[in-house]
Amino acid sequence: MAATNFNGSSPYYAHIVGWGLAVPDNVMTNDDVSAIVDTSDEWIVARTGIRERRIATERESTSTLGLKAAQVALEKADLLPIELDLIICATSTPENIFPSSASLIQDWLGASKAGAFDLSAACSGFVYALQMAAQSIRSGAISHALVIGSETMSRVLNWQDRGTCILFGDGAGAVVLERSTEPGGVLSGVLRSDGSGGDLLGIPSVGSIDVSLAQIAVDGHRPYKMHMSGGEVFKFATRVIGDSVRQACTDAGITLDELALIVPHQANLRIIDAAARALGVNKSLFMCNLDRYGNTSSASIPIALAEAEAQGRIKPGDYVAMVGFGGGLTWAAAVVQWTERQAGTRFGTPRRQFSYTLSSARSTARRIGKRYSELLNRVRPERGRMERLRRRIEKSELE
Ligand code: UT7
Repeated sequence: MAATNFNGSSPYYAHIVGWGLAVPDNVMTNDDVSAIVDTSDEWIVARTGIRERRIATERESTSTLGLKAAQVALEKADLLPIELDLIICATSTPENIFPSSASLIQDWLGASKAGAFDLSAACSGFVYALQMAAQSIRSGAISHALVIGSETMSRVLNWQDRGTCILFGDGAGAVVLERSTEPGGVLSGVLRSDGSGGDLLGIPSVGSIDVSLAQIAVDGHRPYKMHMSGGEVFKFATRVIGDSVRQACTDAGITLDELALIVPHQANLRIIDAAARALGVNKSLFMCNLDRYGNTSSASIPIALAEAEAQGRIKPGDYVAMVGFGGGLTWAAAVVQWTERQAGTRFGTPRRQFSYTLSSARSTARRIGKRYSELLNRVRPERGRMERLRRRIEKSELE
């Protein structure tokens, strides 16, 4: 098991010092879904616990939602984007194979000193990304990292498949990690994968040998749709949550009773009920908000984390477990000790807004500069050709 106990020899700890979420305003209720596929509010609520989900408008994307969540998290952390060393965006619905959504967000934020990449581990992606960022901080290599989970699942759903389209929604959540010598923060991480279950849940992409030409012809614009064997994924999820949370607690050096909250991936209320039974804990120990957002894949844990904090369910010093599971198959758990954090005072909202306006202007100027230089490069050889032609004509006239 790829488990990490951070209480090793490192003098550094990775604390969560900022958090935030962003969801589209557009609400789609179960009744709205029933107008598209043969289902009902009654069935969806009884079998999943979901009542409504948010759906991105045409002007929203994984990166725009991720950017908004990141800005909230940075404000909470009282940090400017220029202070970030690393940005990881966990997503299964990036706008592009590359450039990454993380790079787009890096540019829009003006985080000009940060490395940026997307991480693909489906609904476990946020916990995976948190571990990668925390380990970079614990190693002493970096001081600040932004970890985002962002999805526009509505764009990859097969809206004719009632077994999947009723479940998912769009949204983003983010946290900021900071290096400190004070004990606490991300204490442990358990990352697992079983690729033999890869066929149970997925979204084929450009390199897939399974994407038939017929499928592309049906929907040439967005050929890549999600497929899932719901029942099998359900069984897998209920099997792995208990073990990985226990392992993450052991690695963090705490017992299950010491947990103040478990923030699970928000897939299905019945999965959460089964996990509570498997762990022998009260269901109230689990944070649940899937009734309002559905399954937002890699975004569900950071969204639930930010809401739990806003609801006063997490206090400084509390031990909080997170557990994700999904495509890959992958699953992951982490234990975090919540950090005491004073309200930010270094940068007021006007200065922050100014920094965003400046970075947006800088980004536009850089884009124009790159286009101009591309154009010049095209024009230059043309000029050379014209010059050679002129000389040849002059020469032939002289002859
Ligand atoms: O984020 C990644 C992880 N994903 C998950 O964790 C999802 C895990 N799976 C699930 O949450 C559940 O398997 C589902 C919610 C997807 C399905 O629930 P289920 O209780 O496993 O239903 P089922 O697929 O076994 O279907 C039971 C019945 C079937 O009808 P028959 O054959 O018994 O007559 C389905 O055709 O329910 C029918 N059904 C529906 N009926 C109304 C399936 N989907 C629907 C629907 N509305 N949307």
